[in-house]
Amino acid sequence: MGLESGRVAIIGAGPSGLAALCAFEAARRKGAAIPELVCYEKQADWGGLWNYTDRTGLDESGEPVHGSMYRHLWSNGPKECVEFPDYTFEEHFGRPLPSFPPRAVLQNYLAGRAEKWGVRPYCRFNTPVRKVSWSEGRSKFSVSVHGDTPGTSEFDHVICAAGHFSTPNVPQFPGLDTFPGRQLHSHDFRNAAEFAGQDVLLIGGSYSAEDIALQCRKFGARSVTISWRTRPLGFAWPEGIREVPLLERLDGRLARFKDGFSREVDAIVLCTGYLHHFPYLDHELRLETRNRLYPPGLYKGVFWEPNPRLIYLGMQDQYYTFTMFDAQAWFARDAILGRITLPPATEREAETRNWVAREEALTNSPDAIDFQTDYVRDLLSRTDCARPDLDRVARLFKEWEDHKRQGILIYRDRSYPSAVTGRMAPPPQGPWMEALDDSLEAFLGPRKQGFRNQGSGASVTPGPVAS
Ligand SMILES: Cc1cc2nc3c(=O)[nH]c(=O)nc-3n(C[C@H](O)[C@H](O)[C@H](O)COP(=O)(O)OP(=O)(O)OC[C@H]3O[C@@H](n4cnc5c(N)ncnc54)[C@H](O)[C@@H]3O)c2cc1C
Ligand SMILES: NC(=O)c1ccc[n+]([C@@H]2O[C@H](COP(=O)([O-])OP(=O)(O)OC[C@H]3O[C@@H](n4cnc5c(N)ncnc54)[C@H](OP(=O)(O)O)[C@@H]3O)[C@@H](O)[C@H]2O)c1
Repeated sequence: MGLESGRVAIIGAGPSGLAALCAFEAARRKGAAIPELVCYEKQADWGGLWNYTDRTGLDESGEPVHGSMYRHLWSNGPKECVEFPDYTFEEHFGRPLPSFPPRAVLQNYLAGRAEKWGVRPYCRFNTPVRKVSWSEGRSKFSVSVHGDTPGTSEFDHVICAAGHFSTPNVPQFPGLDTFPGRQLHSHDFRNAAEFAGQDVLLIGGSYSAEDIALQCRKFGARSVTISWRTRPLGFAWPEGIREVPLLERLDGRLARFKDGFSREVDAIVLCTGYLHHFPYLDHELRLETRNRLYPPGLYKGVFWEPNPRLIYLGMQDQYYTFTMFDAQAWFARDAILGRITLPPATEREAETRNWVAREEALTNSPDAIDFQTDYVRDLLSRTDCARPDLDRVARLFKEWEDHKRQGILIYRDRSYPSAVTGRMAPPPQGPWMEALDDSLEAFLGPRKQGFRNQGSGASVTPGPVAS
């Protein structure tokens, strides 16, 4: 590659797109010449999935709503596993915070980090990308956008950071089309209070099923039945939550499962995951994969094999999130700047095959955590990206998994040490199961007046203000 001038389009200003902007800005501040950057974001602000909307269906401009998060969503992993080494939670909030914050706190933190690097001028909000194609003759991408300033421009690189948890995977089951109650995909789930007093069926065996079951229970559902396809989540669920094998069919409200169990249900939430879906990319540029730790076709998990000038960020199944996106973004930046030379296609493909084969041999989550840790470590070894203590973070992930096994209702009441500062997080104000207010103000508690810009995260001055 080796491109110090030229133009780079970034699709999406979520955590991955912001990582790309911060990476370039970090190089610029150290004196490097960087290409012109344009980050197209279809929402009105940055933050990606963390930018909550209660809309479902289509957004104001007829685009599919990106948001899949719901009210009352709290981090499902310790914040210590997502902490930026170049911008700690303590730097942003001015004091240590409990390990499991609600969504608004993480949104605020992400925004603070982006403001610290001053990357807002690169962003064009309310601007959905509608078409991307590659011209071999011109060696350029053509990117067409809609929204506030519609038009088509040429770029030397495209970074697709559009996320992959927004287009629902919707399987069919016999009888679902005549089910008389409410049915929805977790993408459209917004508020568990809606299901108070009801018998709810969740289909799926992963994080959405797990957390929506807890939400429903927390907000007063009468019963929750979780129906799995491959394997149960296997937690020691409290009374009122039960796991059963896959739904066979529905007869009216009566749900019948493969093991012969049946139950009348009022509502069904399909927690059946998401599709990598990039309809605006020309077919030959389009990543098609299931949700997995090492999607084939991406060298170093980011460079599109047939044309490495197209870069995907954040396309993996995720233990690591924010810090992995940074590791990817810094590596991609250095390739674009010509600081890293990519090997020939045959070597790239061989390396990718090795990672994919290793992923396919994984049989348990501690090994999967080690796998993604090694992947992030490999990326970090080649750039000047700030490094978390990865051995420590991997240990935290494994402890967190154990703690969930020990008590799925109480795992969010635990505290973990920062992998950057070493300081232990304070305990939460009370048990998570009793915390019905997920606002940033409630989480920050009595000292909240000491912090600026706690609202939407739209504009954040990092760090505390003297109180
Ligand atoms: C329900 C849910 C809960 C989660 N909880 C956690 C958690 O607790 N902790 C954690 O670390 N991670 C969590 N995640 C994982 C989440 O994927 C990451 O934290 C992170 O948001 C991914 O960042 P991203 O930038 O790759 O994608 P996204 O956050 O999805 O951002 C992509 C951005 O691209 C924009 N975009 C998409 N298409 C276009 C287009 N055509 N044109 C212009 N812009 C476009 C979108 O509007 C969006 O802003 C959760 C995910 C889900 C679905
Ligand atoms: N902060 C939070 O509390 C929170 C809450 C929710 C989600 N999240 C995040 O959101 C992301 C997505 O999680 P997710 O659970 O939505 O997706 P996911 O992890 O990709 O899991 C999808 C699930 O759907 C099941 N499935 C797919 N097709 C099916 C079918 N035809 N029939 C039955 N089951 C089917 C899969 O079953 P198989 O195992 O059989 O393939 C799998 O269990 C994760 O990163 C997660 O961390 C976080």
